[in-house]
Amino acid sequence: MELTTAHPQPYDLVVEGGRLVTPDGVRAATLAVRAGRIAALLPPHTPTRAATRIQAAGRHVLPGLIDSHVHFRTPGLTHKEDWAHGSRAAAAGGVTTVIDMPNTRPPLHSTQAAHAKADLIKGTSLVDYRFHMGVAPHTLGELADLDPRVATSVKVFMAGHHTAPDVIHDPATLDRVFATAADRDLRVVLHAEDNTVFRLLDDYLGTPRTYRDYETHRPRSGALIAVARVLDLVRAHGTRAHILHVSSAEECDLLAAAHHAGLPVTFETTPHHLSFTHHDTRRTGARTRISPAIRTQADQDRLWHALTTGELATIGSDHAPHTIEEKTRPPADAPPGLPGVQELLPVVLTGLRRRLPDHPLDDLLTLIATACAARPAELFGLAARKGRIAPGHDADLVVLDTDATWCPTPDTIRSKCGWSAYEGWTLTGRPEITVRRGEIIFDHASGRFGSATGEWLDPAIP
Ligand code: NCD
Ligand code: ZN
Ligand code: ZN
Repeated sequence: MELTTAHPQPYDLVVEGGRLVTPDGVRAATLAVRAGRIAALLPPHTPTRAATRIQAAGRHVLPGLIDSHVHFRTPGLTHKEDWAHGSRAAAAGGVTTVIDMPNTRPPLHSTQAAHAKADLIKGTSLVDYRFHMGVAPHTLGELADLDPRVATSVKVFMAGHHTAPDVIHDPATLDRVFATAADRDLRVVLHAEDNTVFRLLDDYLGTPRTYRDYETHRPRSGALIAVARVLDLVRAHGTRAHILHVSSAEECDLLAAAHHAGLPVTFETTPHHLSFTHHDTRRTGARTRISPAIRTQADQDRLWHALTTGELATIGSDHAPHTIEEKTRPPADAPPGLPGVQELLPVVLTGLRRRLPDHPLDDLLTLIATACAARPAELFGLAARKGRIAPGHDADLVVLDTDATWCPTPDTIRSKCGWSAYEGWTLTGRPEITVRRGEIIFDHASGRFGSATGEWLDPAIP
């Protein structure tokens, strides 16, 4: 970290006394903000004048998290979640930018639909946002015409489920999507599970009678077969691909090997795949029902390993709320998905500390800043202004009390769905203050949120 010399005063905001998690290491410094950007990183105790000061003694300051996998359900599914609630959950969790998924009603399948969606969100979001474009077999033309400022990524569901009706599984169509994406320089982000495997098993096994049957109907073979198909398409077209919510040890091995072999593939896992095992279903019913399914302890262990080795590029919350009524439907009908944008940072920090008790805390926080801010910024066209604590970057920050605990309860959950799969857990590490472009958007002590002036980010504006 270069400690720059003091800037002409005053600043809009100064964060002092904290340990900053920067790309060049974790160190004590004073962070000064002007016009929404990080203006300077100054030696500790540098005298400054500022309109607002945050005392961060005893705290770590991380880059605001970028959650590149949320379902905020606008338009059309706002009984599950809406942007006002979802963005508050994000702010309370230290997330300052989200990238939203296209499986809404109607789905996001065109440049025009993206503008309409942005109009709906404007004035309701605390955090900044981008969209992943969606695609269905009949919307390949829209994908080919996509304005690159609207999206730099396209989401493909290779297998369907309750909230994912637009599936691309036929080989010729999938091939065209990969060719179009390569041509338009789009990154393909994939729900990689195989539709044929699931159809066959559903027909063979019949209607699920218990919540645990879900995992039998959605086995790891479905995920592995889909990932292998993706690797062939990446090899054929040179398309950049990011596999979402990786759930199994075998996928980690395969994707790490493919990356090592030079293929442009990366992968994500989720806080819930890092936290639960299939045994939890006995207790949680469909609350931990998720697509792809939660698997074994050995899979969970391999996913943590992928985080600590850097094999895994990102952790996305896959914040996918459904109402309690929906989640407590009979085994055949309860939709997969659970909220997680507010839980993301505390869950990952709690798990890392439990697994690596002898590692310096600074290193664990650096892993989080990399997987939950720097890497998503790089993958999705935001690295020029987001994802790092560095002069010139947006002043997106989370002031973290690494020792404070949080036990999620319905009254502390900000998501509209009002429940968490982590009720009953004690999470260690709590965002105290969240800052988005220099503005305090969440303050734990007062319980106050800032203004809903989050912006639709344009990657063309550095
Ligand atoms: C997500 C949803 O509900 O939108 N559900 C899920 O189980 N993950 C969709 C998805 O990401 O597949
Ligand atoms: Zn998915
Ligand atoms: Zn998802």
